[in-house]
Amino acid sequence: MYRTHSNGELRAIHINKTVTLSGWVQKTRNKGFMIWVDLRDRYGVTQLIFDDERTSKSVMEIASKLGREFVIQVTGTVIERESKNPNMPTGDIEILVSEVTVLNESLTPPFTIENETDGGEDLRMKYRYLDIRRKPVRENLIFRHKVTMAVRNYLSEKSFVEVETPYLIKSTPEGARDFVVPSRMNAGQFYALPQSPQTFKQLLMVGGMDKYFQIVKCFRDEDLRADRQPEFTQIDCEMAFVEQEDILNTFEGLTRHLLQEINGVTLSAFPRMTYDEAMKKYGNDKPDIRFGMEFGELNEVAQHKDFSVFNQAELVVAISVPGGNSFTRKEIDSLIDWVKRPQVGALGMVYCRCNEDGTYKSSVDKFYDANDLAKWAEVTDAKPGDLICVLSGNANKVRAQLSALRMELAEKLGLRNPKEFAPLWVVDFPLLEWDEETNRFHAMHHPFTSPKPGQLELLATNPGAVKANAYDLVLNGNEIGGGSIRIHDKETQALMFDYLGFTPTEAKAQFGFLMDAFQYGAPPHGGIAFGLDRLVAILGGQETIRDFIAFPKNNSGRDVMIDAPAPLDKTQLEELSLQLNLKS
Ligand code: AMO
Repeated sequence: MYRTHSNGELRAIHINKTVTLSGWVQKTRNKGFMIWVDLRDRYGVTQLIFDDERTSKSVMEIASKLGREFVIQVTGTVIERESKNPNMPTGDIEILVSEVTVLNESLTPPFTIENETDGGEDLRMKYRYLDIRRKPVRENLIFRHKVTMAVRNYLSEKSFVEVETPYLIKSTPEGARDFVVPSRMNAGQFYALPQSPQTFKQLLMVGGMDKYFQIVKCFRDEDLRADRQPEFTQIDCEMAFVEQEDILNTFEGLTRHLLQEINGVTLSAFPRMTYDEAMKKYGNDKPDIRFGMEFGELNEVAQHKDFSVFNQAELVVAISVPGGNSFTRKEIDSLIDWVKRPQVGALGMVYCRCNEDGTYKSSVDKFYDANDLAKWAEVTDAKPGDLICVLSGNANKVRAQLSALRMELAEKLGLRNPKEFAPLWVVDFPLLEWDEETNRFHAMHHPFTSPKPGQLELLATNPGAVKANAYDLVLNGNEIGGGSIRIHDKETQALMFDYLGFTPTEAKAQFGFLMDAFQYGAPPHGGIAFGLDRLVAILGGQETIRDFIAFPKNNSGRDVMIDAPAPLDKTQLEELSLQLNLKS
């Protein structure tokens, strides 16, 4: 038997008991006549003591040679510690060791395996198995397990059935590029890894499963960010005989349950906001509503003076920054530089200080008097002591820029409290989105999303104005889920493909199976998918999903530990009928 107890388990009540423990050597302190070892496993750390008087010579000798991360097994007696450590659950006791076995030696680890490590990101990714020994990483993984279990139990309780769908499929359009897998048995042909199980879950509804869920890997070849990985996990769900309201209520229930169970937070009904309202008020379809700073549009009060920059702009829009009048000139200049960075792309920023005495001082005083500036303050709800930041230009661009500034300022002012949870539903998304690059409309969610009732006709005359039965769940400024009510008849689906620029032949080749299925009694249905990694990270008070994934990819989509992706050898390429024509 390797152990009678874990390293997080022993307390004062165990004093005088003989125990056997196994684990990793976290730290040793050697005073010659006395050696202390901190022994670690998943459950905690227990202090071992070896001393000249009470420990045999041979055991002392082994103890003196123990290095960091050696795996050992010890047997000994639980004794009371002379100097107790109130910061450790096992801090009242230590083990006086009588026997020790080295189960495996270890090289010196490339970084310290402590809560605060000296290892940089790259090094820790390369030795991820060592990083996982560190408490913060381990706890994130255990936290993820807890959330996943809570999701499974909740949905299972509500009669959802978990069904596995295949990974080797044909491309599903979710807006990103596919990862493809060549088929050996079908030379020149490729599977695609699913960007989501979208079509399969719809087929399960046709198959009468009624309520489906799956905690499932999805694969998207897209540029990476803190909240994106090329392979990530969805809580994918679908229900038959439902309207949008049913879906929102069911999954609001799930989210509320998780917040209660995991975070002990009780929330009332989630607010709902239309897409148009979110864009107007926050310049963003995933607004963080933990703090105010809502947009105020200044066209009426700032145009038609002599300031040509504003006069020429499609939109003049501003936010008031609470307490921002305390910013120094230097701080404001650095904000202006920040909005001018290529990643944000503003041409400049006008500002107006709202002084405590009720007066105003703007960077465009030449063009605007106190009355004008008072109107700016009214529209942006600015109070004495605030700072009004104004951007102008093309409406869509300037909204995105001001939204970025709003988030940056909120971060700077500490307004994004990770312990506070502010969910909301964003509803009534546009069905289609204009793509500047290809000069045509794309489905904003995916091509299986149904238009709002009665809006199908509008597709022919004003496609950009058609609203969809689509919704996103937003939590603390992150899109944690999205879904829609689906089209469930062949004609509408065919019409949709037509509007999206598929010829009937292309539509049949790619999605014939779905349209066929729709002819055999497809029930009305709809669903949603949550990004599990994002959900877990946010419930855990963070936003970087990598920290909640056991073996994540780095920013270039590489697994630096196993060194993937990697070239294939010639034989493998030949078997797959692949030829590489790489230009050197
Ligand atoms: P959607 O594309 O909105 O919908 O994806 C659902 C949720 O998955 C998460 N997500 C990601 N998380 C990490 N890394 C990524 N690269 C990534 N991409 C998406 C987001 C997002 O809200 N089939 C539809 C769902 C449906 O209609 O039911 C779908 O996949 O949190």
